Amino acid sequence: MKVNWNTYLFAFVCFTCAIDLVLTGRDFYKILKLPRTATLNQIKKSYRTLAKELHPDKNKNDPKAQERFQDLGAAYEALSDPDKRKTYDRHGEEGLKRQGNDDSFHDPFSSFFGDFFGGSRDDEHRHVPRGGDLVMDLHVTLEEVYNGNFIEVVRVKPVAKETSGSRRCNCRMEMRTIQMGPGRFQMMQDQVCDECPNIKFVTEEKVLEIEVEVGVPDGYQIPFLAEGLYATLITVKSIVFILNTGEPHIEGEPGDLKFIIRVQKHTRFERRNNDLYTNLTITLQDALNGFDVTLPHLDGHNVTIKREKITWPGARIKKKGEGLPQHDQNNIIGDLYVTVDIDFPKGELTGEQREAVKTLLNQESKHRLYNGI
Ligand SMILES: *[C@@H]1O[C@H](CO)[C@@H](O)[C@H](O)[C@H]1NC(C)=O
Ligand SMILES: *[C@@H]1O[C@H](CO)[C@@H](O)[C@H](O)[C@H]1NC(C)=O
Repeated sequence: MKVNWNTYLFAFVCFTCAIDLVLTGRDFYKILKLPRTATLNQIKKSYRTLAKELHPDKNKNDPKAQERFQDLGAAYEALSDPDKRKTYDRHGEEGLKRQGNDDSFHDPFSSFFGDFFGGSRDDEHRHVPRGGDLVMDLHVTLEEVYNGNFIEVVRVKPVAKETSGSRRCNCRMEMRTIQMGPGRFQMMQDQVCDECPNIKFVTEEKVLEIEVEVGVPDGYQIPFLAEGLYATLITVKSIVFILNTGEPHIEGEPGDLKFIIRVQKHTRFERRNNDLYTNLTITLQDALNGFDVTLPHLDGHNVTIKREKITWPGARIKKKGEGLPQHDQNNIIGDLYVTVDIDFPKGELTGEQREAVKTLLNQESKHRLYNGI
């Protein structure tokens, strides 16, 4: 199915104008299914989930679908902006309107999360020139993968605007037949162009919201359909990248913008699928007597590791359910494996201490040579 985004956006914007006149005070928190204490991240997350669920394209037989989706957009727009949210919390939707509900209606859906439906634009019309795809690595921390996060990317791109004058466009080769004399014809190939309005480029900024989904795998791609094309400059977490210095396309379709999740190496945890691995060094004394350590997890909660038995070097302790949530099913959670390493004391024991150790451990002197296993 081909989604015509322009038509869709137009409908979305105008419908919102219309309902502004009619509706009074909707409960935006209820629409987003959140308590009034919800954090910005929770608001974004809930919006994303509900937008997928309530999208009119997915609820074609429900006459209320459009309305519900617009309520959701309005709720998100009010609550995702800290100033608007404050006004809304105090004076409700009426308050927002009184504040002169600024003209600059920014459409939350189009700037959000890229392609909701995982579809790609149809390939039937390949003769339409298409701008290049832009692919960017997006470096995220393991903390972000564990907790989820939203990253704002400001995309600065030149946008074509009509201006005075005209230019040649849609140029193509056409065959022409010329009569050279009686009964003599010659075929000629000619370039034929149309006249189009002249165009100048105006720089526009747009904020794209990228969700780092809980449990997202390394290499995961997040596409933003039709955001590729003339994107020339991008700011990620306030770092500016120059992406494409080529000529912007004026005709045809824009390419796509794709972000590829790159999970950075963590100083304490290593990730293998849904499981986490870490190393723990303990003293020889703790190895023999037992120990009780707490280690901070990726969201700050403490994991305790407690042993009373003797622990040998290389022992691997499994903490069930302390790994990463699985990407497509967050209720499935991996495990944490802690490999123990023992910090032996340095130096030399006195004769007395040696005797004490001998009495204490009471081990026969023996050794074994082996290879591998
Ligand atoms: C744990 O130690 C082993 C051996 O030194 C090392 O190969 C591994 O990368 C370490 N794992 C982590 C999570 O630091
Ligand atoms: C985790 O343990 C540390 C040290 O034992 C403590 O300072 C910290 O408050 C604990 N954190 C939580 C979230 O309980």
